[in-house]
Order: sequence, then structure tokens, then C-alpha cells
Amino acid sequence: MKESTDAVWQPVEEILNGKSVVLGVTGSIAAIKAPAIAALLRDAGAEVTCVMTESAEQFVSRQVMEKATGKAAISQIFAQTGTAQQQASGPREELTWHVHLARGADAMLIAPCSASAVGMLRAGIYDNAVLLAAASLPKGTPLIIVPAMDEDMWLQPAVQENIAWLKEHGTFAIEPVVGKLASGLTGMGRMPEPEAIVRRFCGTIGQPPDGRRPGTLDGKNVLITGGPTYEPIDAVRFIGNRSSGKMAAALALEAKRMGAEVTLILGPTVRFPLLESAGILPLRVETAEEMKHAVLEHLPKNDIVVMNAAVADFMPEAKAEKKLKKRDIADQFGRATLRLKRTPDILASIARLKKEGHIVVGFALEKGKGSEAYALGKMKEKKLDMIVLNNIEDEGAGFGHDTNKVTIFTKEGKPEPLPLMTKEECAVLILERIAAVSGERSSLAVRRSQKRM
Ligand code: C5P
Repeated sequence: MKESTDAVWQPVEEILNGKSVVLGVTGSIAAIKAPAIAALLRDAGAEVTCVMTESAEQFVSRQVMEKATGKAAISQIFAQTGTAQQQASGPREELTWHVHLARGADAMLIAPCSASAVGMLRAGIYDNAVLLAAASLPKGTPLIIVPAMDEDMWLQPAVQENIAWLKEHGTFAIEPVVGKLASGLTGMGRMPEPEAIVRRFCGTIGQPPDGRRPGTLDGKNVLITGGPTYEPIDAVRFIGNRSSGKMAAALALEAKRMGAEVTLILGPTVRFPLLESAGILPLRVETAEEMKHAVLEHLPKNDIVVMNAAVADFMPEAKAEKKLKKRDIADQFGRATLRLKRTPDILASIARLKKEGHIVVGFALEKGKGSEAYALGKMKEKKLDMIVLNNIEDEGAGFGHDTNKVTIFTKEGKPEPLPLMTKEECAVLILERIAAVSGERSSLAVRRSQKRM
């Protein structure tokens, strides 16, 4: 196998080309995204067969799914004589279509997977076409579910327990993200966007043969920084920026969900109650100096550092202890001068202390044409393993927004431009990429030490 992270993070086309995918669609309003998922799978070269429940047909018609997949869709356990489904399965196989379909599949994706479908999968009740196909998958054929529902449904102990049980028994779940829900409320339960689903689906079926799973940070200690820093001018004024800390909060939550022990160092931002409910208590700092001290203090026990904070580049040369009076600082023309000096470069300090096996990820917020070259230059200069570029010219990307559009650069691989997606979805993909690099490095280290023995 090639010694590069590309082995884990291959382009979706390489993974999906020629694959046969069964796309199950159940009754959640997120079913309206199913045609887009089918189209992306097909664009990447997969052959897609849609199996849907009767409730799913309330949200997306069979005809639409047939157009998106280019094949007859199945929505009944027993096909009506003369229907496309019956013609597709043929007279001899019509009663056992689910067995033939499942045996011919490389993987099955159920997106969206309703709360009831989750419960029935767990209970082994297969009384609709989607569940019947899922139940017929031979051992070893991956089943990937994408639960989507309202937050209160998602938080039902039964749903949580069912998902945990399914995961324990080999089903892969692409979990929902925080966002706008069909009810009009905002909360956890929203199905990720089709691009993010297809990318993660590929992560599960494109696993390298030695069984290493991308997408896990089990046993890893991850240090994440986020938010702005405030550099004080006097007792009440400061130099700062508009970073909201939302991306860092999303990264921390997802890293924890992927099994990592998370240390989150946050500049001045609003509170994130979701962090607290996940048991992540951010360490609060205000200035770049304080952030540097906190990072360096926690660096030794962490394997992965994600420097997402928008650290101020300059700070006032001196801080006035009291509030400065206008008349004391303005000259006769009403002008005032503030002398600035550079803040400490935290990433540069990390680079100096970096040990073998450490993974350090930086972020860059850039504009315009030269931004890719800038990101690559910064990755080299600061000995980063990965840099995530936010292009601030892209609508919806960057500070304050709930969405982000980033390109991921690693030392080994090609740039990976991701589409516009929520910060939660973005966090998932960034961390899966980090997990892939981390997994690849660990197995490389094992191979090297085996060679030396
Ligand atoms: O140079 P630029 O501000 O584009 O670098 C951004 C990256 O460097 C981010 O990962 C940020 O957290 C980090 N940074 C730092 N120390 C600074 C300024 C930025 O570590 N003083």
C-alpha cells in the first residue's frame, strides 16, 4: 500500500466508480435531499437502486427517485403486477427481490433514516421494503444510516440507545448536525448536506484493507483553540476581531463524538451550552499571550493540535491601566496614535516544540487568487501537517456565519476543496481528515519500527 494519506482519503470517484449502492429512503422530511444524494453517487460512477418506504413517498415521489437513479425504485414488499418494480425484478425473483438486491450491493445507505426505522432495525422488525433490503445484506456488506429527525425525537433515550446498539453491532451512523429543522426550530437532528453524506459514506466503504477505520479519534487527546483574542488598549478598550468561536465549538463537539479527549481553549465568545452538555468545559483566555500560555501548558499531553483561533496579529505596545481620556491622547488635530507590536506567534512556538507523532493543524482566512499559495507557504513555514483555508470571498464562509466553505491542504495529498456546508458538517470532514492522517502516521510508525527490528 502507498505510504500516503491518499490511501485513506481517496477522491469519491475512485471509491464509488463501478460500485452498486442501495439507497434506502424513509419517512423524514429530509427525504427531499435523497434525489441529490442519488445524483452525487451516480455522478461519482456508482449504480444506485432506490428502495423507499410508503411514508418516504409523502416527501419525495417514486418518479423523482427513479429519475435521479435512472432505475425503477422499489417501495412495496410485494410488487404489483405490471409495475416497473415487478418488471425490474422479473417474475421469478419478484418475491425475493430484496435478497438479490442486497447480495448484489457493495453497500447500503439509508438517508434519511427515521426514528422508527432506527427502532425497527434495532428490534429486527423488517416490515417495509427498506428494512427488508437492509436485513438481507450479507455479513460484511456495510450498512450506513443517516438518522434525521426533530431534536426532541433525536434526544429520546430509546433513539439514542437504539443507535448506540446498532453501532455496536456493525452499523455505521452518520449522525445529524445542529441546524434549522423542518419544525422551524433550530437544534440537533438536521441531516447533513448530500455532499457531506456522500463523502462520509465513502469514508466507510473505502476503508483500507488492513481494517483501520478512518473517522475515529479513539484514545487521542485533541487540543482545539477558537474564537478571537482581545488585546487591551486600556481598562475598557481592546483590539479584537469578529471570530464567533462557532467553528471551534463544532470541532470540539465532533472530536469528542469521535472518541477524543478534548481540551478547548476559547477566546472571548458567547457561551455554547451544547459544549457543556457534552461535558466540554472551555478554558477561557482573553489575549494572545494568555492563549499561548494555555496552549503550551496543555501541549505535552495532546497528540493533535487544531489552531482554529483567530489570534490578533498585533497588540498595543503598552496597556493603560485606567480608561484613557480623549483629551489626554488626542493631538491638536484630534488625532491619536496607538503603537502596536506583534503578538506571539503560537503556531511558531508549537512548531519549535513539536515531537514526532504530533499533528498540528492551522487555519488561514484569506482572500483572492494567491490564497492557496499562501496557505501552502504557511503550512511549510510553520511545520503544519494540515492547513484549512477559508476563502473569505466565498459567500457564507468565515466569521460569524453558520456555514463555511474550506479547502483542506495536507503535506502529502492534493488540495481538497469542500462545498459550502454547515460548520458542524465541516468539522466532521476536517476531523475525519485529521483522523485519516493520524491513522496513517501511526501505521507508518509501526511499519518503520517493524522494519528496524
Ligand atoms: O498568519 P495568519 O493569521 O493567517 O495565521 C493563521 C493561523 O495561525 C491560525 O491557525 C491561527 O490560529 C494561528 N496564529 C497563531 N498565532 C498568532 C496568529 C495566528 O498561532 N499570533
